[in-house]
Amino acid sequence: MEGPLFTGRTWREYMKMFDLDTEDIRSLRILDCPAGSSSFTPFMISGGADVTACDIMYKEKPETLSEKCREHLEFLTEALRRVKDNFNWEFYSSPDEMFEKRLEACRCFTDSYKKHPEAYVQGDIMKLPFDDESFDLVLSSHLLFIYDHRLDWGFHRRALDELIRVSSGEVRVYPLVKENGELSGYVERFIRERDDVEARIVTVDYEFRRNGNLMLIIRRP
Ligand SMILES: C[S@@+](CC[C@H](N)C(=O)[O-])C[C@H]1O[C@@H](n2cnc3c(N)ncnc32)[C@H](O)[C@@H]1O
Repeated sequence: MEGPLFTGRTWREYMKMFDLDTEDIRSLRILDCPAGSSSFTPFMISGGADVTACDIMYKEKPETLSEKCREHLEFLTEALRRVKDNFNWEFYSSPDEMFEKRLEACRCFTDSYKKHPEAYVQGDIMKLPFDDESFDLVLSSHLLFIYDHRLDWGFHRRALDELIRVSSGEVRVYPLVKENGELSGYVERFIRERDDVEARIVTVDYEFRRNGNLMLIIRRP
């Protein structure tokens, strides 16, 4: 199966991989793109936050997304069993536990997608359907850098420009490593070429993929 897969991490994984504290971000306007079937948006909505999830797949019906998520999660879990040693089994103790927790996240997402359609916006990260500086905090995980063998520099450059354009505060991107655990060359290229923004790599307390504990924080000066 070709990536990117339509799956989603749990809100607990989001808090760790983006180094977030619920109380600190509750009052911010937040964008998650691509949000997939993550439970981050449902969790933040339940706490009263102003959060928007954006994904290219959000034109589909909830049932279609739910089926796709399950199918992709089964595929991912099988694939992980074959390369178990490339992953760190502290957050999840086994592929089965990961499957169950992310399937639960998908159920939360499907429920929320039905109940709060206004929070789920269909859009392409290359041309986001939002005005400049619409969000205080923009999160982006598991599309950029990790698929750099399929998505070229033009895609990365354009997507990062868009994430920065719609943000008035910070953009956070995770992970920075490719599927083989090496830092994507596009991270340094971005930092070199977009010297008009402040960009720094920070270590986070989440390392599921080995060497995967790095996150990029971008701020406009
Ligand atoms: C692996 S999921 C990541 C979801 C979530 N951020 C997470 O970390 O769990 C990748 C997502 O990227 C979405 N996607 C792929 N290409 C996209 C594009 N050009 N614009 C917006 N979303 C895209 C897919 O539909 C999928 O939901």
